Amino acid sequence: MPVSSVPTPQIAHEEADRIPLSQVLGALSHALDLTEGQPWGHAARTCLIGMRIGESLGLDPDTRSQLYYSLLMKDAGCSSNAHATTEFFGTDDQALKAGLKFADWTDPLRLKLFALRSAALGQGVGARVRQLLHMARADEGTGRELIRIRCDRGAEICQSLGFPRATVEAVRCLDEQWDGRGAARGLVGDEIPLLSRIALLAQTLEVFAARDGAARALEVVRGRAGRWFDPDLVAVLRGWEGDHGWWGELYGSDVLSRLSAVEPEDRIIRVDAEGVDRVAESFAQVVDAKSPFTGRHSTRVALLARGIGEVLGLGPVELRDLYRAGLLHDIGKLGISNRILDKNGPLTPLERKQVERHPVLTWTIVGQVEVFAGIARKAAVHHERLDGTGYPWGYGAAELGRDDRILAVADIYEALTATRPYRAGMPPERALSILREMEGVALDSGMVRAMEAFEETGAVPEPGLAPEPGPPP
Ligand SMILES: [Fe+2]
Ligand SMILES: [Fe+2]
Repeated sequence: MPVSSVPTPQIAHEEADRIPLSQVLGALSHALDLTEGQPWGHAARTCLIGMRIGESLGLDPDTRSQLYYSLLMKDAGCSSNAHATTEFFGTDDQALKAGLKFADWTDPLRLKLFALRSAALGQGVGARVRQLLHMARADEGTGRELIRIRCDRGAEICQSLGFPRATVEAVRCLDEQWDGRGAARGLVGDEIPLLSRIALLAQTLEVFAARDGAARALEVVRGRAGRWFDPDLVAVLRGWEGDHGWWGELYGSDVLSRLSAVEPEDRIIRVDAEGVDRVAESFAQVVDAKSPFTGRHSTRVALLARGIGEVLGLGPVELRDLYRAGLLHDIGKLGISNRILDKNGPLTPLERKQVERHPVLTWTIVGQVEVFAGIARKAAVHHERLDGTGYPWGYGAAELGRDDRILAVADIYEALTATRPYRAGMPPERALSILREMEGVALDSGMVRAMEAFEETGAVPEPGLAPEPGPPP
């Protein structure tokens, strides 16, 4: 069943058998932080800042609930322009995006300086000049288009999760600025949804406060009042610099537990197991959108792993675990630069080391989500091999359980059969023969047999490319 046609999370209030959605999204928002080149907890802290602004404005509980999820999901589209951003600037997408959050880029001179500093950063003079020429030749709307892709994709993800329209539109208009010189749509003043205005202000406060402290952050946003920010919202921040206890807690305590405390208490959204699946599916799409070379990899690995499990006669709980672990197994790739992931040529030893770090990040991110505690390890060890030749831990047969072995087979089979922009997918018979060459040594023979049996059912998901990874710059 295509992901887009599955039902959205069931929204209910105060039902003990359902999990607060904020618990799942709050923990997973760390993955979005990584993609944006932000420190761990950026989205969660932005949420705390934005909710304080919302409270000062006296917003009603429904609007505060919409604001809460807009703030948590503001970067949901972050991966969709990562490849194109790397191509355009010739540098690490995460470093670039992190830098952009500090730059006052609606000032044309400052934007030019930012581009000069960022183009092919860390590379030789020749490469930097070539990159600048490439950027100069590009249509002036390219930067705007990169931001639009990100905002629209984030909005689509919020919509697919069943969030109200106000949340969807808040994410879509995140980068609009008060004076109309904002990125994607050029909306002006009150045309910009209030929740987007709050989110942009909260986000800017967070990045500057994290780096330079609260006083400097407040000084920066006051300096941009009327240009970037709604002056009435900036006025709400009067006296915040003196609230040292609040700022101290923001940066000094367990941000996730504080996060659940600021969700409007009579509007807590809870999700059932299906709803949790939908969230995992959305994050699989975020991962798959990061690179045009990986297509629908995460989604297909999940379906393949579940299919192998069905052949083996596993029960519904075990199948659900396999499915979720498959969806999230490469979430750590969000923390790896597209300059490396999409490199056209052999990786240097250092680059290879960075790529081989992604299972560690997967374990860390998935392990933060309480409901995924049982699958974090399974999701992480998909590159380990029975003969100990895998990475990054070099586990052997004694350390690899049934689900680990299933996911390893599903991951390889998917990669071999997937259609890539530069090549067609391998026919199933050829992919299966490669798996057979590895069985008994690196892969479990029983799981390879089960993969063959699943293939024979004809239910293997079609290979295909991800929906638009972004336009070429
Ligand atoms: Fe992987
Ligand atoms: Fe993978």
